[in-house]
Amino acid sequence: MDFQGVALVTGAASGIGRATALLYAAEGCKRIVIADFNTSLLQETKKEIEQSRPGVDVLAVSVDVRSEASVQKMVDQAIERFARIDYCANVAGIIRFGDTSVLPLSDFDDVYQVNLRGTFLCAKAEINAMLQQEPLRNSHSEFEARGAIVNVSSQAGLMGNGNLPAYVASKHGVVGLSKSDGVKFAQHGIRVNAVCPGTIETPILGDLPQGEIGKQRAAERTREIALGRIGRPDEVAQCIIFLTSGRSSFVTGTTLAVHGGLRNT
Ligand SMILES: NC(=O)c1ccc[n+]([C@@H]2O[C@H](COP(=O)([O-])OP(=O)(O)OC[C@H]3O[C@@H](n4cnc5c(N)ncnc54)[C@H](O)[C@@H]3O)[C@@H](O)[C@H]2O)c1
Repeated sequence: MDFQGVALVTGAASGIGRATALLYAAEGCKRIVIADFNTSLLQETKKEIEQSRPGVDVLAVSVDVRSEASVQKMVDQAIERFARIDYCANVAGIIRFGDTSVLPLSDFDDVYQVNLRGTFLCAKAEINAMLQQEPLRNSHSEFEARGAIVNVSSQAGLMGNGNLPAYVASKHGVVGLSKSDGVKFAQHGIRVNAVCPGTIETPILGDLPQGEIGKQRAAERTREIALGRIGRPDEVAQCIIFLTSGRSSFVTGTTLAVHGGLRNT
């Protein structure tokens, strides 16, 4: 794919973010910023890209998406190194389990801070940087692009789940943010969309209940999936990459569900 510009991926130390960073490199993007607060795993992602794709310039940045100053520093470092940012994937996220009657307020706050506040802070800093830069042409579209952002929501951003109220609320928020920014900044050549993954095999699933209850829930989830299996991180990464590429030049302010087809919707 034609990725002459600069990619920025948060949550790039693990799971979907890591797969997205690797895929940008595999698809020919030569300048990639990877960010996460797990800096040791982030270095593994950097090493893997550099070893498998020589010639790709990877900047690894420590970020805590809950902090405005930290997020601004991430974007400033990206601009300082590469002069622009074109394809942004805001992937960092956490999950906490428990219905509203038992969920500790601290868990609600943590989920809100990372998933919704963090995505807002990233989108804000990215959009402000994109507004300053000249648009780029690419071979997939006759229209110039000033930038494209994908915020990672969830199937939990599209429906309720009684055992994940904070997560569901935060991911609905990410959908609302993406729809709003997609419409607002289209006039400036900036597209914003959300992807809504279903159950994907990543370490975040380790935060769900373990043991018999966990097994039972995993089996229930798989039964709900029309494709009959859980998804892989690279299958979500493909969709993120598409939504930031010139191939999706007329797509903004919307969501792409990546959940294998849900039987109950
Ligand atoms: N795996 C799934 O089934 C699934 C389904 C739907 C949506 N999602 C969403 O996909 C995204 C990626 O999740 P994943 O499955 O790859 O999980 P993951 O746990 O493998 O990756 C999440 C990454 O986010 C980072 N992170 C967490 N808090 C952070 C913070 N404050 N600042 C910076 N980085 C932080 C973690 O260090 C980690 O590297 C999340 O937003 C998650 O909600 C995942």
